Amino acid sequence: METKATEAPRYFKIRVSTILPSRPTTFDVFIMINGRFIHYLRPGELLKAEKISSLDRADIFFVPEAQRANYKRYVFERMNEDSIDAKLKAQILRESSLTLAEEIFEQPEVDQALHDSKELIGNFIDFMENHPEGMAHLISLSSHDFYTYNHSLDVGIYSLGLGNAVGYNKEDLLELGRGALFHDIGKRNVAVDIICKNGPLNDAEWAQMQKHPQYGLRILTDHNCSEAMKACCFEHHESFLGNGYPQQLTGPEIHPMARIVAICDTYDALTTKRSYNEPMNPTMALEFMSTKLANRYDADLLKAMNSVLFRMKQKAS
Ligand SMILES: [Fe+2]
Ligand SMILES: [Fe+2]
Repeated sequence: METKATEAPRYFKIRVSTILPSRPTTFDVFIMINGRFIHYLRPGELLKAEKISSLDRADIFFVPEAQRANYKRYVFERMNEDSIDAKLKAQILRESSLTLAEEIFEQPEVDQALHDSKELIGNFIDFMENHPEGMAHLISLSSHDFYTYNHSLDVGIYSLGLGNAVGYNKEDLLELGRGALFHDIGKRNVAVDIICKNGPLNDAEWAQMQKHPQYGLRILTDHNCSEAMKACCFEHHESFLGNGYPQQLTGPEIHPMARIVAICDTYDALTTKRSYNEPMNPTMALEFMSTKLANRYDADLLKAMNSVLFRMKQKAS
């Protein structure tokens, strides 16, 4: 069966690694070759190892939009299967969420994106609750990639881990995770060539870039978001010393959730590869933040972040 790619959007993307070779699919799977969708698996078929290795570009499959519920149920069932270990579940959850995060970031309708984020963050909160040891694997899977949706998802995951470690309840974790996911939403209004520039920004470009918290606040205010979510977005570049932006708030004035996002945002930025700088490894990044940058952050949270990451590193290894 072949369908012209121009008839999209009738399919959504999934990552191959979210399908377990030992569990038959419950939906049709397509691959794209030369701009055409080619039928690859039918419901009930197994994804055999030799099928994967015969693929040229093996990381993305397409599923008909009408079968989205089947795919969600397939992932949900794997997340609740006792015989699947937390490490593999963490991988399936992260990989299935990445394509969802990409959709959320490409979604022009902010209301829809905000709505979809509840399910995405809720899945991570459920996972943390059901598999306290699984967070270590989630964190170790961080892609250290600079795409906005990757960065935002990773900042969301770190923030949930840190919020959980300092005792946030489920409701607050949902707001924190969503606030972290949308912390850079204002970058939608910054010119793409500035966002994607391969090198340091000049003064004018930097001034543009520094407006993203204001742009983000405006977007979230227009869509009736909670004060906590707005703060994650508007205050994540503030510094405890009062030399952050845009408001130069000092420590106690910064919303507690924004303090968490600030730490996780910097940690992700330091450990992410960009074309113009080499990433730090997790230990170096934490060391750097705890010494050179320590005064910028809430000291207790920074300490908690240290223990969260250190504990997780031990568990994941
Ligand atoms: Fe930012
Ligand atoms: Fe960020």
